[in-house]
Amino acid sequence: MQPQGGGMPKITLPGVKHVIAVASGKGGVGKSTVAANLTFALKAMGHRVGLMDADIYGPSVPIMLGVSGTFDPNTTDFPLEKYGIKLMSMGFLVKPEQAMIWRGPMVHKYVHAFLAQFNWGQLDYLVIDLPPGTGDAQLTLTQSAPLSGAVIVTTPQEVSLIDARKGLEMFRQVRVPILGIVENMSYFVGDDGKRYEIFMHGGGQKLAQESAVPFLGEIPIDPRVAQCGDGGEPIVHKLPETPVSQAYLKLAGTVAQQLQQQSAPAPLPGLQL
Ligand SMILES: Nc1ncnc2c1ncn2[C@@H]1O[C@H](COP(=O)(O)OP(=O)(O)O)[C@@H](O)[C@H]1O
Ligand SMILES: [Mg+2]
Repeated sequence: MQPQGGGMPKITLPGVKHVIAVASGKGGVGKSTVAANLTFALKAMGHRVGLMDADIYGPSVPIMLGVSGTFDPNTTDFPLEKYGIKLMSMGFLVKPEQAMIWRGPMVHKYVHAFLAQFNWGQLDYLVIDLPPGTGDAQLTLTQSAPLSGAVIVTTPQEVSLIDARKGLEMFRQVRVPILGIVENMSYFVGDDGKRYEIFMHGGGQKLAQESAVPFLGEIPIDPRVAQCGDGGEPIVHKLPETPVSQAYLKLAGTVAQQLQQQSAPAPLPGLQL
């Protein structure tokens, strides 16, 4: 391992083509829900995928994917697998109420171990659900994980956008490409067919524009998103035909396309192809 970024050892994952960080400036904006549905959407596109829950303070992958209980690391082969997706979460090791006490260095230690010591096998995409915020733990993680790019999730309100801006800056600082911004909970379509912009609308797009990063799209509010998440089967898997699932699928398509472009060799100067 090569020490990089201020002496942080950089982890290498030779079998994994792309590692995508899903991040947000603050909690409760739907980051984990985007991470899980993005993973399922990439799977639906035919890719080999994994989902790593690095949100040690509030691991939600166990609930969202319906894996209950804790597992003895001495007798368990991590990562686990469900719905054909490779999975790891601090929630598999400790009960959620214990997870609160981790400090920055511990977060790094565990996440480092999750990535470096477990056999993730051959994957096209590994999606990492980062802890919300831009503190030391997040900074260290973004420096040491082999991230191909970051997806930033925000809600349309100004309070969320301010924090999303900080998230953008953090990735810029550690030179991780920003794949773009997703505006979650953008609007709600009622039974009357009318569109309601509950938390206002368009802030994500505006932030993307002023920060010169791609805008990846809007995810509407749909109570079924929360029901499916709580029920252990993300909506993209359970109800793929819904408009909200289509929005996640579109997001996955855009993200995959950007990563393909990024990893494609740059054309040689002066060569007509
Ligand atoms: N588009 C959406 N429509 C309805 N509920 C949503 C949507 N996105 C997320 N939620 C719900 O909002 C809550 C917070 O989402 P979560 O993904 O846990 O946020 P975070 O990881 O940012 O803290 C969860 O109950 C989740 O099911
Ligand atoms: Mg979360």
